[in-house]
Amino acid sequence: QTGASKITIHADQGKTQISKEIYGQFSEHLGSCIYGGIWVGENSPIPNIKGYRTDVFNAIKELKVPVLRWPGGCFADEYHWMDGVGPREKRPTISNNNWGGVIEDNSFGTNEFFNLCEMLDCEPYLSGNVGSGTVEELAKWVEYITSAGNSPMANLRRQNGREKPWKLKYLGVGNESWGCGGNMTAQFYSDVYKRYSTYCREYDGNKLFKIASGASDVDYNWTETLMKNIGNKMEGISLHYYTCKGWEGSKGSATKFDKNDYLWTISKTLEIDDMIKKHIAIMDKYDPKNKVALMVDEWGTWWDQEPGNHTALYQQNTLRDAFVAALNLNIFNKYAERVKMTNIAQVVNVLQAMILTEGPKMVLTPTYHVFNMYKVHMGATYLPLEVTSDSLTYNKTKFPIVNASASKDSKGLIHITLTNVDLDKDQKVTIDLPNVKITKVEGKILTAKTIDSHNTFENPNVVVPAVFKDAKITKTGLTVNVPAKSIISLEL
Ligand code: AHR
Repeated sequence: QTGASKITIHADQGKTQISKEIYGQFSEHLGSCIYGGIWVGENSPIPNIKGYRTDVFNAIKELKVPVLRWPGGCFADEYHWMDGVGPREKRPTISNNNWGGVIEDNSFGTNEFFNLCEMLDCEPYLSGNVGSGTVEELAKWVEYITSAGNSPMANLRRQNGREKPWKLKYLGVGNESWGCGGNMTAQFYSDVYKRYSTYCREYDGNKLFKIASGASDVDYNWTETLMKNIGNKMEGISLHYYTCKGWEGSKGSATKFDKNDYLWTISKTLEIDDMIKKHIAIMDKYDPKNKVALMVDEWGTWWDQEPGNHTALYQQNTLRDAFVAALNLNIFNKYAERVKMTNIAQVVNVLQAMILTEGPKMVLTPTYHVFNMYKVHMGATYLPLEVTSDSLTYNKTKFPIVNASASKDSKGLIHITLTNVDLDKDQKVTIDLPNVKITKVEGKILTAKTIDSHNTFENPNVVVPAVFKDAKITKTGLTVNVPAKSIISLEL
């Protein structure tokens, strides 16, 4: 049985650039994201480039990661950067109190993070300690990183082996300040934000893009209060939204789930669309000229930690997670006028990871492959579109079976990404592209036998993209036979 859907893409009406930072990543000192995942140290038997594991580095590089957020999350508001600079053997250990009280040796600190970003050619996004740090500490961190002159912190950086300053654009002033970042009210945080951000100076031509710690989910009051009080003092405000069953009790298994759980996941993740719309409506009220950006700097699935001997928040990643990634990225593209950055949680070994490692082994997840297929949208012009498709229902909530996004890149190539979330039914999708002469179409498909299919160290190629040939050029555009439970990217 095959369903029929229609997409109309207005290739001549694109006016908004999809900020490449929408395809950003998050790397926290949590579980084995940093230690073991990104950083193994120069003396490790695991092959590495200056301490960064080679396999993970190359995999991240392939994604063209535009921005990397660090050091947290909740960790950020308890991180004291001075502990993580200078000769590694002299750095004090710290207890990662947010994530199991694990003792860390601070061998990955400011220099290691900024050097990594340089090697990856991505923007660093620093999350400042506002919860338990001082104004002076954050001010000095910015000076250490960005000052070129003969200033005390620039000299400390030189003493630590780095002559030139790094570039720092994105600076988060606290994280989840309503929770692990200090349990503040929105009103109180507004003043705290003003105090901390005042002293984060712009040294030697470095321009900061300051991001206020924003709301979680539907906390519209948080956005409203911040926009009202500090809307003219920030460049961005964040939003966190996890596809998660709740904060108490089991969050469900990453790999063992039934059809009902799957439908819940899709309907839950799609809630972000309306949420973003409502946060943007509040921002529009206070900032009609669209000067403040919305940064969804944490998002993704949050399941129970994988059973067995695993580090904190380590979870497997199935074709279901790939759908969550694909649907969210399509939505973020749609709001590209206001949404300028997002950071999926997290890049390695934590939550909806791109990459999983165990000792020397590494595997790429289905979510990784979605990011690799979707990276063509980075920096391209968003093309408005309409989708008409049948719906599925979870608990009286209806959602469309077909979801899509389209963009035109600087070479004039049109990229279309589409999903068929139906587990059983293929979709014949008619794509109308008025005023476009199509001469060639190439495609990739990500699917698998079952929705719980996933890649393991033993079987790493269960869910991997394949060449897709079932798109035919017509007089008005394309017809595409989209198999059940599949994610497709097309290039015209
Ligand atoms: O990504 C894991 C955690 O989720 C982050 O540390 C925190 O900001 C959020 O609650």
